[in-house]
Amino acid sequence: MLTLVKNIKELVQVETGQHKLRAQGPEMAQMQTIKNAYLIVEDDKIKDFGTMETPSGKQIAESNADIVVDATGRMVFPTFCDSHTHLVYANSREHEFVDKIRGLSYEEIAKRGGGILNSAKATAAASEDELYELALQRLDEAMHLGTGAIEIKSGYGLSTESELKLLRVIRRLRENSPLTIRSNFLGAHGIPMQYRGHQEDYVDLVINEMLPRVAAEGLADFIDVFCDQGFFTVDDTARILEAGIKHGLRPKIHANEMAISGGVQVGVKYNAISVDHLEQMGDAEIECLKGSDTMPTILPGCAFFLNLPLSPARRMIEAGLPVAMASDYNPGTAPSCNMQLVLSMACIRYRLTPEEAINATTLNTAYAMGVSRELGTIAVGKRANFFITKPISSYEYMPYSFGENKVETVFINGKKI
Ligand code: NIG
Ligand code: FE
Repeated sequence: MLTLVKNIKELVQVETGQHKLRAQGPEMAQMQTIKNAYLIVEDDKIKDFGTMETPSGKQIAESNADIVVDATGRMVFPTFCDSHTHLVYANSREHEFVDKIRGLSYEEIAKRGGGILNSAKATAAASEDELYELALQRLDEAMHLGTGAIEIKSGYGLSTESELKLLRVIRRLRENSPLTIRSNFLGAHGIPMQYRGHQEDYVDLVINEMLPRVAAEGLADFIDVFCDQGFFTVDDTARILEAGIKHGLRPKIHANEMAISGGVQVGVKYNAISVDHLEQMGDAEIECLKGSDTMPTILPGCAFFLNLPLSPARRMIEAGLPVAMASDYNPGTAPSCNMQLVLSMACIRYRLTPEEAINATTLNTAYAMGVSRELGTIAVGKRANFFITKPISSYEYMPYSFGENKVETVFINGKKI
């Protein structure tokens, strides 16, 4: 099956020659585009692209592919990769949102049993089918906003049965959704009330009871820990990551949201594919990431929603690091899956240029979920996940016009959805 998209005003984030697995430092500002372009898709893969202005381009314009889409006035982008979400959950948490407006902090709400524990209670009461239906709707919304690959964490279970239930929901999503999905076991997301004061016993439960079952059922690609003040310590984290690695899971870390926690260092030590949040970053954390294979990942929606300090994205790029930006979609700190908004916030709040912001939300988030060989750019042989915009004036308009949905048509695995 051959699909031709022709008369593309500008084809954005193309790669010719050697494909990069990530963009770092000055490379983040580099982004290739082709004006007046065509794109050819064979089945689920990108087959060819180029300018309409050459003789072969003219021929292509007249070709009779099975499907021909005329994109006059419109741009084509690779779909966003959202490398950090918690989208399987039972209930929204707007009452805590109001408590926060009235002055309570995220940590205060967590201490009194709200926050993650609130979500865990509702998750325990929900059936697998209910959770699946809710998550599928959210996935569908993300896809229509331009997301083509997504990582999903467990972590609202906090008991063996509930964590397995969440991971089985993710497996069902993976089997039934056309999106590229990666699964992350985040048993160490919060400390259940009955373990307060002796959380090492909960860490034991994660390692000795949950993890072997997660691994035996092949339910996860990654293992994650919320390594932060008031949550899991560096020692807890190291123990969990070591055990996860033994079961074949690659670490990904929540770190430095509340305080400089040592989470970046322990993540790098265990070769985490990404360390995420990073609202609190000192020079030592930046230094430690240099030369590593770990992707620093910023979550602009969470910092916006909780009014947190902004992660020093510019300092990281100037230090030669790569930066990725994901949604953190979850009911407590970032109730939005909108990666177009993340793109805008990357520019508006973190002072990334549009080119850097596009790299941060496509190629670098693809890296942060281990899929940048097949996704993240428009390149021959990569998966044909892309979107066609509404008529827009330039690619800079994408981050500029924040809050507007600029995505008109989404193609996943070469098929219009
Ligand atoms: O990434 N920081 C930890 N975990 C989530 C929030 C979870 C929640 O509050 O429900 C996050 O922001
Ligand atoms: Fe998170």
